[in-house]
Amino acid sequence: MENILISGGSGFIGSNLALKLVSLGYKVNVLDNLSSQVHTDTIENSHTFKSIKDKVNFIRGDVRNRNDWQKAISNSTIIIHLASETGTGQSMYQIEKYVQVNCGGTALMLDILSNEKHRVKKVVVASSRAIYGEGKYHSKKFGFVYPNARDNIQMTNGQFELLCSITKIPLLMLSTDEDSKIHPSSIYGITKSNQEQMVHVVCKSLGISSIALRYQNVYGPGQSLSNPYTGILSVFSTRILNNNSINIFEDGKQTRDFVFIDDVVDATVLAIQDDSIKSCSLNIGTGESTTVLKIGKLLKKLFNSEVNIDISKQYRIGDIRHNKADITKARELIGFRPKVSFEFGIKKFVEWVKSQEIYSDMYDQSINEMKNKGLMK
Ligand SMILES: NC(=O)c1ccc[n+]([C@@H]2O[C@H](COP(=O)([O-])OP(=O)(O)OC[C@H]3O[C@@H](n4cnc5c(N)ncnc54)[C@H](O)[C@@H]3O)[C@@H](O)[C@H]2O)c1
Repeated sequence: MENILISGGSGFIGSNLALKLVSLGYKVNVLDNLSSQVHTDTIENSHTFKSIKDKVNFIRGDVRNRNDWQKAISNSTIIIHLASETGTGQSMYQIEKYVQVNCGGTALMLDILSNEKHRVKKVVVASSRAIYGEGKYHSKKFGFVYPNARDNIQMTNGQFELLCSITKIPLLMLSTDEDSKIHPSSIYGITKSNQEQMVHVVCKSLGISSIALRYQNVYGPGQSLSNPYTGILSVFSTRILNNNSINIFEDGKQTRDFVFIDDVVDATVLAIQDDSIKSCSLNIGTGESTTVLKIGKLLKKLFNSEVNIDISKQYRIGDIRHNKADITKARELIGFRPKVSFEFGIKKFVEWVKSQEIYSDMYDQSINEMKNKGLMK
C-alpha cells in the first residue's frame, strides 16, 4: 500500500479524504498548521482534527517551512496537496499571505522534489473552478466567449447577468470544460492556477505523475462553521443558528455547482488509484447549478427558522455570476460519477450541523473588513 501525504489533511476535504484512505488500508501522513481561521484558536474544538488525529501520522507544520515539508515528504510516495488559504474575497486584500501560502508553499514542495532524495511518484493538487473566472458563455453574435469580470457601473445599476461587451445582449452560460480560458478574477483564483501550473511543469520534468483537481463548491459534513470567509452553506447556517438574517448578494439568482464531500473524496481516490494519467487537470463538480437564493430558502426550511432573507443587491469584487463544470473528462479518464443529489446532500449537511457546537457569527466582521477595503459595494 502507498504511503500518502495529505497537506491540509485536517481541513474539510482533507479530513474526510484521510478517513476514507485509512479505511482503504493506506498509511496516511498529514501536514497541517491547524490554522485558527479554520479550526478556531482552541484546537480541541476542531471536529475535523479530532476525527483524524488518532488515525494518521499527524505533523503540525506549515507549508511555508522547508523543514516541515521535508519531514512530511520523507516516507511518502503520493502527495495530495490541499493546504491553502481559501477565501476568494479575503484573497483580494490579504494578497501577500495568499501568495506565500498557496504559491510559496507549492514552490517549496516542488523544490524539495527537485533537489532532494524522495520516493514520491504522484502529486495530486487541489485546484478550483475559480481559475476560470466567469467561465464559458455563448453569444449569438460571436459564438463561444469567455467574458471578463463584470464592471462596477453595470453592477451598481443592478445588472448582474453577463452581457456581450459589444451588443449588450445577455450571454448564455455553458458548462465550463477544461479547455476553457483560464482567467481568474481573484487573487485566490490566480494562486490556484499558479499552483496547478507549477505542479504540472515541475512534475513532468521529474517524471512524477501530476493531477490537478479543479473542485467546484464543495459542501457537506466537516465544513468549517467558524470560518466566515468561505463556504456559503456554513456561513448561512451559522447566521440562521445565531438568529441573524441571511444577506443574499446581488439578486440571489447567481448560481454555483455544489458537489457533495463524498463525491469529492471519491474523485480524489480515483485520481490516486489511476495508473494511466501522466499529467492532467480535471473538473470535479456535478454539472448542475443551484441559485444562492434557493440555498438560503432551503436552509431556512430545514432549520425550521423564521430569520429574514435579505436580497441586498450588494456585491463583492472578485465574485463571479455563474459557474458549472463540464465533467465529461473526469468521467472518461478516471470514471468519476457524482452520486449525491443536492437535495439529499443538503439534508445530510443540516443533520450534521445540528449535532455541532454553534460558533458565534463572525460574518458582519468579515463584511466590514471587505467594506473597509473597498471590495464590497
Ligand atoms: N471547499 C471547497 O469548496 C473548495 C473548492 C475548490 C477548491 N478547494 C481547495 O481544496 C483544498 C482544501 O479545501 P478545504 O475546503 O478542505 O479547506 P479547509 O480550510 O477546510 O482546509 C485547509 C487546511 O489547510 C490548513 N492550512 C492552511 N494554511 C496552511 C499552512 N500555511 N500550512 C499548513 N496547513 C495549512 C488548514 O489548517 C486546514 O486544515 C484547498 O486547496 C482549496 O483551495 C476547496
